[in-house]
Amino acid sequence: MARTAQTKNPCPVPRHWRNELKKVLITEGQIARRIKTLSTEIERDFSGRALVIVAVLNGTILFLADLIRCLSLPLRLDFVGVSSYGLGTESGELVFTKELRLDVRGRDVLLVDDILDTGRTLHRVLGKVRQLQPRRIKTCVLLEKAVHRVEKVRADYVGFSIPELFVVGYGLDFAERYRNLPFIGVLHSRFYAELPSSAAAEPSTHLKRWK
Ligand code: IMP
Ligand code: MG
Repeated sequence: MARTAQTKNPCPVPRHWRNELKKVLITEGQIARRIKTLSTEIERDFSGRALVIVAVLNGTILFLADLIRCLSLPLRLDFVGVSSYGLGTESGELVFTKELRLDVRGRDVLLVDDILDTGRTLHRVLGKVRQLQPRRIKTCVLLEKAVHRVEKVRADYVGFSIPELFVVGYGLDFAERYRNLPFIGVLHSRFYAELPSSAAAEPSTHLKRWK
C-alpha cells in the first residue's frame, strides 16, 4: 500500500536551495523508512528466487542504491536507458539508449523506475523485458502520480503517491539538475510553468536557463 506524501510539510527547505525549491515534499528520513518497508515486502515476495533487478536510468540511481542495500537476497543488477525525443509533443517517442545485457529468460525480474506518471516509460520497458521471457516481472517505483496516466500500467511496489506537482531530488531531475538532493522537493513553478506539459519529462531541450 503506497504512502501518500505529506503536502503540508514542516521540514524547511535547506537554505542553499530556498530560491529554487518551494518546499520539501518527502524528507530523507521518510524515504529511508519507506525503503525499509518496501524491501521487507520485496524480500518476502522474492524469497528463494534468483532475482534480476532491472533499473531505468538515470532517475533511479539513489533509490536503487538505497533499496538494494536493504535487500538480503541473491540478486543481479542491470540497467536500461530510455529517452523521450518528443520535443514537447504529447506523443514523444521513447527510444532505448541502453539495452539490457543480462539474460533474464526464466528468471524473476524486479523492474525499478523513479516515478510513474503517464505510464509510457514503464509500459514500454515492460513490453521490452517481457519479450525476453522472464518467469515473472514485478514493478517498483519510488513515486506515483495518478493524474496523467495514459497507459494501463501499475506498479506492484510504490514508495509514495504524490499529488500533481513537479518534483526533483533523490535522483529525479529538472534539466538534469537536482538529482543529488537527498530529499524530494517541489520546484518553484516559475522554473517550468512556461513549458508544454510533456516537456517536464525532458525539459533540457526546452530550457536554456541552465546551459
Ligand atoms: P512517464 O513515462 O510519463 O510515466 O514518466 C516517467 C518519467 O518522466 C520519469 O522517469 C521521469 O524522468 C519523468 N517525470 C515525470 N514526472 C516527473 C517529476 O515530477 N519530476 C521529475 N521527473 C518526472
Ligand atoms: Mg527525467
